[in-house]
Amino acid sequence: MRILVLGSGAREHAIVTALLAEDAGHEIVAAPGNAGIAADVETIQLDPTEGQVVADYAREHGIELVIVGPEAPLVAGVADAVRHAGIPVFGPGKAAAALEGSKTFAKRIMEAAGVPTGRAVRAATLDEVSAALDELGAPHVVKADGLAAGKGVIVTDDRDAARAHAEHYLQQGEVLVEEYLSGPEVSLFFLADGHDVLPLSPAQDFKRAHDGDEGPNTGGMGAYSPLPWLADDFGSEAAFVDEVRRTIALPTVRALEDAGTPFVGLLYCGLVLTPNGIRVIEFNARFGDPETQVVLPRLVTPLSGLLLAAATGGLAGLPDPEFSPEAAVVVVLASEGYPENPVTGRPITGLDDPLPPGVTIAHAATARVDDRMLATGGRVLGVVARADGFAAARAAAYAVLHRIGLDGSHYRRDIAERVA
Ligand code: AMP
Ligand code: GLY
Repeated sequence: MRILVLGSGAREHAIVTALLAEDAGHEIVAAPGNAGIAADVETIQLDPTEGQVVADYAREHGIELVIVGPEAPLVAGVADAVRHAGIPVFGPGKAAAALEGSKTFAKRIMEAAGVPTGRAVRAATLDEVSAALDELGAPHVVKADGLAAGKGVIVTDDRDAARAHAEHYLQQGEVLVEEYLSGPEVSLFFLADGHDVLPLSPAQDFKRAHDGDEGPNTGGMGAYSPLPWLADDFGSEAAFVDEVRRTIALPTVRALEDAGTPFVGLLYCGLVLTPNGIRVIEFNARFGDPETQVVLPRLVTPLSGLLLAAATGGLAGLPDPEFSPEAAVVVVLASEGYPENPVTGRPITGLDDPLPPGVTIAHAATARVDDRMLATGGRVLGVVARADGFAAARAAAYAVLHRIGLDGSHYRRDIAERVA
C-alpha cells in the first residue's frame, strides 16, 4: 500500500516502525517526519496542517491511505480535505476532532452518551470560576477549553493559583472547572470507523517530569504496556477493556454519529480508575504519545489493515486486534530545561551503535546536520524495549539510554518500576 503519514514526532516514528514491521512492501512517505523517520522511509517537506496541499499531494502520488498523527492537522480539518478527495484517511474531520479540541464539546458528547466523567462547570467569567471552585472544592482542577499543548490543565490545592490559571485562559474563551478525580490513570485506544470500535491494549503514561511523579506536567516521559495490575481490579485486562468499550468508547462514537459528526480514527480514552468506577479524564482524537511507542510494538495484527478498515467503515465483524503478551517499555530522553525552557541544537551521540534485539529508538525531535544528529526539541527520543517481562524490558531500555549522550539531558529512572 502507498501510505502517507503526517507528523514529525516519536508517535509517527512508532507508526512508521509498525508499518515497516509488517514486511508487506508498503511504500511509506512521511510529512514532514524527523531525522529518525527519514532514516527509515522517504520524507517530504509539506505542511501537514494544509488540507488542500496534503490532499493534492496524496492524489498526485497515488496515496491509498493517509494516517494523521498529531491533533493540529485534525483540528485544522486536514482529514476532511483528504476524505473529500476520495482518499481513505485515518483521522477524524474537524467537527469530530473537537472531541479533543474543545473540552466543552467533549463534555456535551459525554453527557449525550451517558459516559462517566468528572462533574464539570463551564465558566465564562472569573466570578463564575470562583463560584465553581467553591462548589466543587479542593483539589481544584481548571481546564482551558481549546488545545493548549499540554499546558491547559492545572490541578492544585491553591485556590489563587487555580483562579490565575483560569484568568489566563479566559482570554481565549470558556474554561471548565472540574471535580478532582483520584486513582491510577490508564490510556486505552480504540480504532473507530464512525460506527464501530475495536480496542487496542491499555498503557500507562508518566506525565510528570521527575521520578516519583514529581515536578511539572510534560507531554509524557515514558510509558509501559500491558498493565498487569488491571487483573486485580477487573479480573482480567480483557474484562477492563470490554467495560470501557461498552460504557465509554462505543456510546461516544455512537453519540458523535448521532450528532452528524462521525468519528473515524483513533479514540484515545484517558481514564482514571476511581474508587467509584472508571471515569473519563480526557478524550484525544489521535494516538497518544508516548503510549503508542509501547502499544504498537506488541500489536500482532497488521496495523495497515486495521487503519484502512477504520478509514473505510469496515470494522464491523473484524476480530479484536491481537497483542503479544510481551512487556513493552519506553523511556523518553528530554533536553535540558524541558518542559519549561528546553535547550535545543545540541548534538546527540551514541546513536550509531547496533541496538540489541527488541529495542528500537523512536525519534521525537531530531535533525541530521552534516554527519551529526542534533536535538531540536524538548522530548528528543524514546528508547523502546520489548521483552519477556518488564524487568528485562526495563534493563534493555536503560542499557541503551546509558550510552546515548546529550549534554544536560534527563530521563526518568522509574518507568515501569512497580511492575518489574
Ligand atoms: P490532560 O491535559 O487533560 O491530559 O490533563 C493532564 C493531567 O492532569 C491528567 O493526566 C491528570 O493527571 C490531571 N487531571 C486532569 N483532569 C483531572 C481531574 N479531573 N482530576 C484529577 N487530575 C486531573
Ligand atoms: N500521552 C498523553 C497524550 O498523548 O496526550
